[in-house]
Amino acid sequence: MSNSEPNTTDRNSPTRNILVTNALPYANGPLHLGHMVGFMQADIWVRYQKLRGNHVTYVGGDDQHGTPIMLGAEKQGISASELVDQVEASHKESLNGFMIDFDNYTGTHHRENEDLVKNIYSVLRDKGHIDVKTIKQAYDEEKGMFLPDRYVKGTCPKCNASDQYGDNCEVCGSTYDTTDLIKPYSVLSGKPPIEKESEHYFFKVSEFADMLSDWKDSGALQPEIANKLEEWFESGIIDWDISRDKPYWGFEIPDAPGKYFYVWLDAPVGYMASHKIHCENTQQDWGKYWLAEQSQDTELYHFIGKDIVRFHTLFWPAMLEAAGYRRPTGVFVHGFLTVDGAKMSKSRGTFVMADTYLKHLNPEYLRYYYAAKLSNSVVDMDLNLEDFSARVNSDLVGKMVNIASRCAGFIVKRFDGQLADQSAAPELHQAFADASNSIASRYEKREFSQAMREIMALADKANQFIDEHKPWVLIKDETQLELVQQVCTAGINAFRSLCIYLKPVLPELVTQAEAFLNIAPLTWDDIQAPLLEHPINKFKPLMTRIEKDAVEAMINESKKSLEVIEAPAIDANTPLGSDPISTEVSFDDFAKIDLRIAKIVKAEHVDGADKLLQLTLDLGGETKNVFAGIKSAYNPEDLEGKLTVMVANLAPRKMRFGMSEGMVLAAGPGGSDLFVLNPDEGAQPGMRVK
Ligand code: MSP
Ligand code: ZN
Repeated sequence: MSNSEPNTTDRNSPTRNILVTNALPYANGPLHLGHMVGFMQADIWVRYQKLRGNHVTYVGGDDQHGTPIMLGAEKQGISASELVDQVEASHKESLNGFMIDFDNYTGTHHRENEDLVKNIYSVLRDKGHIDVKTIKQAYDEEKGMFLPDRYVKGTCPKCNASDQYGDNCEVCGSTYDTTDLIKPYSVLSGKPPIEKESEHYFFKVSEFADMLSDWKDSGALQPEIANKLEEWFESGIIDWDISRDKPYWGFEIPDAPGKYFYVWLDAPVGYMASHKIHCENTQQDWGKYWLAEQSQDTELYHFIGKDIVRFHTLFWPAMLEAAGYRRPTGVFVHGFLTVDGAKMSKSRGTFVMADTYLKHLNPEYLRYYYAAKLSNSVVDMDLNLEDFSARVNSDLVGKMVNIASRCAGFIVKRFDGQLADQSAAPELHQAFADASNSIASRYEKREFSQAMREIMALADKANQFIDEHKPWVLIKDETQLELVQQVCTAGINAFRSLCIYLKPVLPELVTQAEAFLNIAPLTWDDIQAPLLEHPINKFKPLMTRIEKDAVEAMINESKKSLEVIEAPAIDANTPLGSDPISTEVSFDDFAKIDLRIAKIVKAEHVDGADKLLQLTLDLGGETKNVFAGIKSAYNPEDLEGKLTVMVANLAPRKMRFGMSEGMVLAAGPGGSDLFVLNPDEGAQPGMRVK
């Protein structure tokens, strides 16, 4: 694969100037543990960079516009601006609770953002990147407003399931236009919507296809994401509808009365605005981070979830480029959180709000658990509640804190709190120091789970050392006192080293440890020299075990929690639609999938497609035509005559190159490592796969 991670570790400048953002959460409800994935991932990375002495700024804010917020406020009988203010205050509190250390947090409704958005839009318009087109949309006459797809429901035209959304059916999975729905009704009034025309403003993203393609290959993206972009390029980039008609909660478009900027236009600009406010407060040069010609010495990274990739990798860089700003150095995409193996669920009590968690459990438990599970890939991440307790109790309480508590008592009581002038295990200290580069590079590359694994292996070493020397036995022998002091000094130093390595993850615990060790705030380079001949303070337990009751109480409270206003993450008026989020599938749904053995009778290249092969599949008499994105892995001639497994009852889909009547199953990381299953001899075309 040609794409690689941004090559940031070997930059020459001793101090890097780094700006980091995390996706701005919608201001329509409280934060939940899913939101915390991105916030924590970015926060850990930021704290790591700060620990290395880099100049890092972490900015965020709430995404405060859009239809769901407008309607949410209406429902509560308050103004939208009151609602977003309330929510912002509550979000800030939750983020504080989880020790998310923003340098600035300002929502998108702020004046600073309005100025920037209008300015960017004017440049786009003046340079000819905006088109005005008339489109037809569902309109609720009673409510007097156009309806985003998610606000129209009706009976599925394919399977007749009732109460399906305007863009796709959750029962049979087919996608269609809102106008195809049988007996459509507005979610807001219950009345059938009419079709109404209106002028919309489009940003001509397609004009930036070449730039985007170069950017895609610049190393700014994870390989999975770069591949996704490639697919989008192949299916053709469509212009982006950036306007909404009144009534809408957002910023009005300057030259277009009654038209508002679509929330997704002003949302990412919120990153710039929040940073601008920070720069004004701290007298820093904002332009050096954002202006295309001035930003060579600064780095910009966006942490986001996998559902909002399109906005950050197509529209956003195109907007920046069009308006004379720099492009992101990296967009770091994380997967979705599942709890106990399934999508977070209110009825099971696994849809846990950030504040509910904080009421029952220590935030650093979760920071550590997420770190122990996070990688730099886009895969989903599971919070398994049993594993959560076991892991935290074993690693943090049983391994890390235990080292200090096993050694501190002797030092304080028997040696007047004084560490020895020499450690009994210089080689142990060296092992910690030698791991510095490797652990640093794990953090840098966001391979946090690997970093945690390495760090815990060192903790194991330290515990083994103490087990071998048994200071609690030695202490009984008056002639061994000096050795006891040196053994405990080695143990305390191992604990201090663990604190350095875990400081990005456990900021509060490490602050307390610094007070116990009676030292200045630790930095990364402190790992080299051990702490000797130094007075330490009395040890207080730094972390207690996770009790089963606390986890249960949190789940029970989540079951009871009131309804949350949930917004569609993406207004489906966006022509490119939303990215699929991995959702839970019921057994019944799964049972509907008809998997069959198919024989590949013909495999051919498709003119103009970089990824696709056209397959003719024989299902034991019946023939199907399928376009499969497996070109990078197979030569067509090698496939002919082979058997594969296909989904035989997938609704046919019209693709750019023709109709596709099914899907072949493939597995693997992608690229040339993609395996079309190849069942054994006994299989016959048409056979059902169970
Ligand atoms: N407002 C937009 C982002 C605008 S950024 C300019 C938005 N908001 S959101 O509240 O729906 O999501 C905020 C972030 O949380 C996104 O990165 C999203 O992917 C992430 N997550 C929301 N639910 C999540 C999980 N269950 N798991 C992991 N991340 C999740 O999108
Ligand atoms: Zn259906």
